[in-house]
Amino acid sequence: MKRSVALLEVLLLLTFISKASWAVGGSSPCKLISPLEVRPHSVSITEFGAVGDGATLNTKAFQNAIFYLQSFADKGGAQLFVPAGRWLTGSFELISHLTLLLDKKAVILGSENSSHWPVDDPLPSYGRGRELPGGRHRSLIHGHNLTDVIITGDNGTIDGQGSVWWNWFRNQSLNYTRPHLVEMRNSTGVVISNLTFLNSPFWTIHPVYCSRVLVQNVTILAPLDSPNTDGIDPDSSDDVCIEDCYISTGDDIIAIKSGWDEYGISYARPSSNITIRRVAGVAGLGAGLAIGSEMSGGVSIVHAEDLQFFNSSNGIRIKTAPGRGGYIRNVYISNVTMTDVKIAIRITGQYGEHPDEFYDPNALPIVDMITIKDVVGTNIGRAGLLEGIEGDNFLNICLSNITLTVTKKSPWNCSFIQGYSSLVSPRTCELLSESIYPRHSSDCYLLSSHLQSPGRNISACVPG
Ligand SMILES: *[C@@H]1O[C@H](CO)[C@@H](O)[C@H](O)[C@H]1NC(C)=O
Ligand SMILES: *[C@@H]1O[C@H](CO)[C@@H](O)[C@H](O)[C@H]1NC(C)=O
Ligand SMILES: *[C@@H]1O[C@H](CO)[C@@H](O)[C@H](O)[C@H]1NC(C)=O
Ligand SMILES: *[C@@H]1O[C@H](CO)[C@@H](O)[C@H](O)[C@H]1NC(C)=O
Ligand SMILES: *[C@@H]1O[C@H](CO)[C@@H](O)[C@H](O)[C@H]1NC(C)=O
Ligand SMILES: *[C@@H]1O[C@H](CO)[C@@H](O)[C@H](O)[C@H]1NC(C)=O
Ligand SMILES: *[C@@H]1O[C@H](CO)[C@@H](O)[C@H](O)[C@H]1NC(C)=O
Ligand SMILES: *[C@@H]1O[C@H](CO)[C@@H](O)[C@H](O)[C@H]1NC(C)=O
Ligand SMILES: *[C@@H]1O[C@H](CO)[C@@H](O)[C@H](O)[C@H]1NC(C)=O
Ligand SMILES: *[C@@H]1O[C@H](CO)[C@@H](O)[C@H](O)[C@H]1NC(C)=O
Ligand SMILES: *[C@@H]1O[C@H](CO)[C@@H](O)[C@H](O)[C@H]1NC(C)=O
Ligand SMILES: *[C@@H]1O[C@H](CO)[C@@H](O)[C@H](O)[C@H]1NC(C)=O
Repeated sequence: MKRSVALLEVLLLLTFISKASWAVGGSSPCKLISPLEVRPHSVSITEFGAVGDGATLNTKAFQNAIFYLQSFADKGGAQLFVPAGRWLTGSFELISHLTLLLDKKAVILGSENSSHWPVDDPLPSYGRGRELPGGRHRSLIHGHNLTDVIITGDNGTIDGQGSVWWNWFRNQSLNYTRPHLVEMRNSTGVVISNLTFLNSPFWTIHPVYCSRVLVQNVTILAPLDSPNTDGIDPDSSDDVCIEDCYISTGDDIIAIKSGWDEYGISYARPSSNITIRRVAGVAGLGAGLAIGSEMSGGVSIVHAEDLQFFNSSNGIRIKTAPGRGGYIRNVYISNVTMTDVKIAIRITGQYGEHPDEFYDPNALPIVDMITIKDVVGTNIGRAGLLEGIEGDNFLNICLSNITLTVTKKSPWNCSFIQGYSSLVSPRTCELLSESIYPRHSSDCYLLSSHLQSPGRNISACVPG
């Protein structure tokens, strides 16, 4: 009897899947609206007195070169070339219509002197620095209010030399929140490609209040025990595409965010239309793919596929808390392979961490329409730890075709959530035990049979 039910379920599932067959875009890459801008003017950083000996501070050279290139912004833009060498620098600012191009053997090195990383006001959607009240150190490479910016190379390197910052963090001698390696703020048409990023002081790539961002074919590395060295954190940004990346860091590989508690709620800028595919790596203490915990401006339309996570604390993770407000909805994650992961799927409704005591504990986040399908896991500790908020159930959590080899005796633990599942092994928790097919497929994001194929549009990643 059990067996025939299972068989029927497989058949139904196959029928529905073939009808609803869509992919985030098959294997085609995120498309650029036009080929990468070929800039009519190009200068080398050496023309501005830079010395690539790993010891001379080149902040002025970067600033002067970029100031000079400003006059070409309305003439098709310009390119700043960084040749082979080790180019030590403090923070510098990009401009619109600029390509920063690194040679294969170029290494941009972040200064180990904190006074070379100026302090800016907090982001309005955070109200304060993420780790300390007050301002934040400016990222090494920074852009604000820009359009059409490309940071690329033939696998050249941007090395934040973050270990000094990790030590300041550990021994509590920071005065301000640590800097990111690259931050683009309120910018449109940003491409970051073909580069290696090493040892960021804090999160590595942080697009905030941005539109049309493409991160393609980058490697991001930091020690697995380095504090908060997230890979890529799209924050209050839309039309973001991340693909073909290898990321191994101490915290989340990718974390989608949108501001913090009352500051994020009042700034109200969501992250939306985020495409992620063919991303692999190791998240030391974090998750392979995370949403939150700062999500107060809302997060929606996240499509992630073809992911591989190894040796990580968590595979897929949603983090939120009372006080955040906002929402996380319409999330579709498919084709994920996990190996040596402690918790494969984790939803945390009590993450805590508030900017100050003025947050509204009654601002409850909405979590709704989360689909996770086609997951295979080997040597997993716990399959799922899915915890909503009492009086604020997380809804329509749909798990389909998930096979995990787990070591824990009770693989699933669920509370304050509601949803459906099909073909999940080991058996899901009671709260999700009702089958998706046939009655509940339309309650699940992108599992309904009468699907208008959103794939094509969503697949086109178009910065520039
Ligand atoms: C850090 O840089 C500042 C400003 O350039 C300088 O005054 C200071 O001596 C430097 N500190 C160290 C330890 O090199
Ligand atoms: C960015 O734009 C805002 C709003 O117009 C302005 O206040 C700010 O000074 C600009 N910042 C930069 C670096 O251009
Ligand atoms: C964002 O940038 C645009 C164009 O540079 C500017 O007009 C606008 O005021 C900026 N907005 C904010 C909030 O900084
Ligand atoms: C990825 O980058 C490497 C060098 O950084 C380059 O050789 C390769 O062609 C790139 N692949 C794609 C798909 O762009
Ligand atoms: C780029 O360099 C990194 C670090 O050396 C390396 O791990 C990666 O495989 C390289 N990527 C390509 C595409 O060559
Ligand atoms: C904290 O770490 C920094 C960077 O490694 C080091 O220079 C400093 O001496 C340390 N301070 C204390 C109080 O241990
Ligand atoms: C913090 O401020 C103190 C006092 O100004 C300074 O000596 C120290 O270098 C600062 N720490 C960092 C990490 O910048
Ligand atoms: C990455 O490098 C490859 C090989 O040089 C090149 O074909 C491709 O256009 C580059 N991609 C981007 C987005 O810069
Ligand atoms: C797995 O991660 C742990 C800590 O995060 C690290 O110590 C260990 O070296 C990693 N193992 C592999 C095979 O990467
Ligand atoms: C699943 O993702 C892997 C990469 O992680 C890829 O090789 C494979 O082709 C994908 N499978 C499907 C059905 O797209
Ligand atoms: C289940 O997921 C696996 C791994 O992604 C995939 O190969 C398989 O085709 C899926 N099965 C169904 C019925 O979709
Ligand atoms: C989603 O973002 C991509 C760029 O990554 C863009 O090309 C596409 O038009 C956006 N889709 C919608 C529905 O806005």
